Amino acid sequence: MKQEKEISESRRNFLMKFSLGLGGIAALLAGIPILGALFQPLIKKGEQKWRVVGKLTDFAKGETQLIKFRNAEEDAWAGVSAKSAGWLRHKENGEFECFSANCTHLGCPVRWEKDAELFMCPCHGGVYYKDGTVAAGPPPKSLTQYSVRVNKGNVEVKTAPIPLTKITA
Ligand code: FES
Repeated sequence: MKQEKEISESRRNFLMKFSLGLGGIAALLAGIPILGALFQPLIKKGEQKWRVVGKLTDFAKGETQLIKFRNAEEDAWAGVSAKSAGWLRHKENGEFECFSANCTHLGCPVRWEKDAELFMCPCHGGVYYKDGTVAAGPPPKSLTQYSVRVNKGNVEVKTAPIPLTKITA
């Protein structure tokens, strides 16, 4: 009888420790992403990264092409929102310039109209000149420009967090 009681108590102790151990592991696993989310903005604020957007030979001189790339701040859970787009121009003199595809009014994607040499925003009629400055409509400022470099035959764009437009009443 006493032996059975000891075995039962020993089993209870084992199960209690096992449950506590499992609970601790579960709490640790749940806590890692929460701590990451809390401290990540402090670590990554304003981070910029060079992203390869293609080979030099992919961009004909005189052309303005839509490019897509991953943002500088790539959160694991961001999914498709971690991607950005820009309009990359290979100028006749060999230089590159790149404009954010997001309108500076409310962020709609602008499109390049080659014949008119204008960037047009379909949302509220914003229009930008070839150099990204505002031609008409509500955009409060020029299209954001990214730095571009050629590195080992690749064209790279220096991504940055997209500056949000301040809406004033
Ligand atoms: S979002 Fe482009 S004009 Fe409003």
